[in-house]
Amino acid sequence: MTLLADELKQAAAEKALELVQDGTLVGLGSGTTARYFTEGVARLVAQGMKIRGVPTSRATAELAASLGIPIVTELVGQIDLAVDGADEVDPALNLIKGRGGALFREKLVAAASKRFVVVVDESKLVNELGQGVLPVEVLPFLWRSTAERLAGLGLSLVVRGGEETPYVTDNGNLILDVTVAGGIKQPGEFAMELKKVTGVVEHGLFVGMTDTVIVAGPDGPKAVGRLSGGAVARPTPAHGTDASADARDRPS
Ligand code: A5P
Repeated sequence: MTLLADELKQAAAEKALELVQDGTLVGLGSGTTARYFTEGVARLVAQGMKIRGVPTSRATAELAASLGIPIVTELVGQIDLAVDGADEVDPALNLIKGRGGALFREKLVAAASKRFVVVVDESKLVNELGQGVLPVEVLPFLWRSTAERLAGLGLSLVVRGGEETPYVTDNGNLILDVTVAGGIKQPGEFAMELKKVTGVVEHGLFVGMTDTVIVAGPDGPKAVGRLSGGAVARPTPAHGTDASADARDRPS
């Protein structure tokens, strides 16, 4: 039987729900895969579990509230577990995120979490990041100058939504969708290079942040990383070129 992409996404999200316990403060991701997770958390809340959520976007906040999940926006301390989708996952568990536009809050939530778990269907696995665009969030003020600085790094880019009606993030910023010719060879170095560009607020490269990836394929969801404290197994990419190996997993 061929599983539809939506069924795979749901299977990955359901597997991640096994990590949620009574009392968990959970980061709620954005996008179609993370939505299944949020819906599952709502089921647990309805069953009586005391779970609170930190949403990564306004859309997720509205969804969570509509489903009865208590929301936390003023964080003190750490989030226990964040679960989110991704656009690309490489063999070192580095990610590209943000094609849904929520990358900045997603990164804030992941960075504030003890454990960051990524849920994807197997189409998201690549040998090398940069198979599609890398979203970069920039301040609207003098954004053309920022775009020129990025172009000066040899990158080509477009304004998401077009210059006439640009897409505006939850933070009031713009997204430049960057194409890296030939792929991203060294994600860690490239991430730092992007971060140094004046006007860049954040970018969608998540390097060394992922603890576990749950990948759903025809044989069911599989966890790679440290889901159960075991040895790190790496995903088998479906496409892309050579693997990058300069990233690390966050220590337990
Ligand atoms: C949102 O900004 C993104 O980072 C999403 O998490 C990512 O695009 C994955 O979305 P899907 O689960 O809808 O593919």
